[in-house]
Amino acid sequence: MVGKYKLNNIYNEDSYIAIKNIPDKSLDLVIIDPPYELETHGGSHSQLAKQIQSQHKELYENNLHIGVDNKILEQLCLKMKNINICIFCNKKQLIQYLNFFTEKGCLFDIITWHKQNAIPNYSGKYMSDTEYCLVFRKNKPMNKESENYDDRKTWWIEPINSTDKSLYGHPTIKPLELVKKLIRNHSQENDIVADFFLGSGTTCVAAKELNRRYIGFEIDPKYFKIAKDRLNGINANGQTSIFTDFEKIGEWEMKIRLLAFDSKMVNLAIFIEC
Ligand SMILES: C[S@@+](CC[C@H](N)C(=O)[O-])C[C@H]1O[C@@H](n2cnc3c(N)ncnc32)[C@H](O)[C@@H]1O
Repeated sequence: MVGKYKLNNIYNEDSYIAIKNIPDKSLDLVIIDPPYELETHGGSHSQLAKQIQSQHKELYENNLHIGVDNKILEQLCLKMKNINICIFCNKKQLIQYLNFFTEKGCLFDIITWHKQNAIPNYSGKYMSDTEYCLVFRKNKPMNKESENYDDRKTWWIEPINSTDKSLYGHPTIKPLELVKKLIRNHSQENDIVADFFLGSGTTCVAAKELNRRYIGFEIDPKYFKIAKDRLNGINANGQTSIFTDFEKIGEWEMKIRLLAFDSKMVNLAIFIEC
């Protein structure tokens, strides 16, 4: 338990309220991906502008554009044993987070996620093809056991994850492997990993796969259900994930499934699953 909450569980609650029920100095690692403050993209009527506007509409409709209040960052600092936090953000929020945590005397790193398939932008701006994950720690060394060349790189290159996006129905889902790398680097087995803006549950799925204890909060019932199902190996279409039952299937069958996924024939993979 952490306070009134059971570990290895997630809750459909507002984090700004729930966090008050978490005891001080109880969490080993926090990974959060709070709603991003959106940059504006003018009122152009070009095809590309319309594509960006429609993406933004989805974010506005789901309240995924409002940023985060420093009040919850203050609370989070109290709840961690030592400050040890990874925060996904866009360019606009870098300054808020850097100011907040460096004033507390934290060391920081900036991990970048470069998306090779971002929507082009020819309106006098750079493309929105990079997201950031800021890592802040104080009196908390990185995990020596996870020391390997790839895990210590500060960059991640992966296209926008449209397969996971359609499998788990969240517009801003983060790459599972990137989150697993953060967990390996900044925690040890059995540590408590918490996420207060859970979305489709990526942090908790990653923690579970790496034998960490986890707890998560998501305010929107629709995303909460997606996260809950995902943790039980069920995707947004109601189908059981092929990655939950390795032992039960033969090697040949697994190869066909992976081939189908590799060649983006997700429907075939799902069909084989059924
Ligand atoms: C950017 S998304 C997280 C996506 C997630 N990293 C993933 O991979 O699916 C932010 C999530 O925080 C949730 N959220 C926003 N405000 C919240 C609050 N006060 N308490 C709990 N969840 C909140 C939103 O509903 C949204 O699903």
